[in-house]
Amino acid sequence: NVGFDDWPYPAFVAHRGAGLLAPENTLAAMRAGFDHGYRMFEFDAKLSGDGVAMLMHDAVVERTTNGSGRVAGMSWGELARLDAGSWHSARYAGEPVPTLARVARWLRANDCLANIEIKPCPGREAETGAAVAIEALLLWRDAEVPPLLSSFSEAALEAARKVAPGLPRALLLGELAADWLDRCRALECVALDASHRVLDSATIAAAKAAGLRVLSYTINEPARAVELRAAGLDCVITDAVDLIVPGD
Ligand code: G3P
Ligand code: MG
Repeated sequence: NVGFDDWPYPAFVAHRGAGLLAPENTLAAMRAGFDHGYRMFEFDAKLSGDGVAMLMHDAVVERTTNGSGRVAGMSWGELARLDAGSWHSARYAGEPVPTLARVARWLRANDCLANIEIKPCPGREAETGAAVAIEALLLWRDAEVPPLLSSFSEAALEAARKVAPGLPRALLLGELAADWLDRCRALECVALDASHRVLDSATIAAAKAAGLRVLSYTINEPARAVELRAAGLDCVITDAVDLIVPGD
């Protein structure tokens, strides 16, 4: 597994910055997660129409900004002017969509770690995987702990592997097809990152026996986190940053 035997990541990771407490995929969310004790953040990275790596979950901006349209159809200049906070609450009015570079600077300045979910706009899978991985290499070039790259897109992970083989990768799976282990191996992943809805202790054991670490999303019930941790789960990715205390 690409010489990545020491697992440097904490057991609890804040999903989209701070889950539902603050507008997802913004620096305000990461600050909120930080205030709850979280030191590693999962977020969704994709490319603007003109190729700037930035944070947003959806391929369209309607749900999480005051704008409308496809991310891939907008330049970074247009995306940078959007309000990505008001949809959540008045308190976050004017919160911008951040670039990956801005987030990397904030995380590194605050001794926090990153799980970059590569979430390509449709049709831009390989391009996004390569661009995000190259930028991550530069942004974290002298970091002690590299960002963990993850994606549901095998094309994106394969492109990331080609340009940045040393950056650790995790394959995201919402369902566990019979060949999940082969797929992780083909991409030289260090970890499986599976929905907790499909994860059980036998799968965790099988992954670990194969030398993989295991992450799981999005675990919002403290009891489920305890159960899967007891079964050997390495990382709980959660929205419930106010209910699940990192370090438990
Ligand atoms: O990276 C884990 C999780 O974020 C995957 O699902 O839709 O929340 O990005 P989603
Ligand atoms: Mg995500």
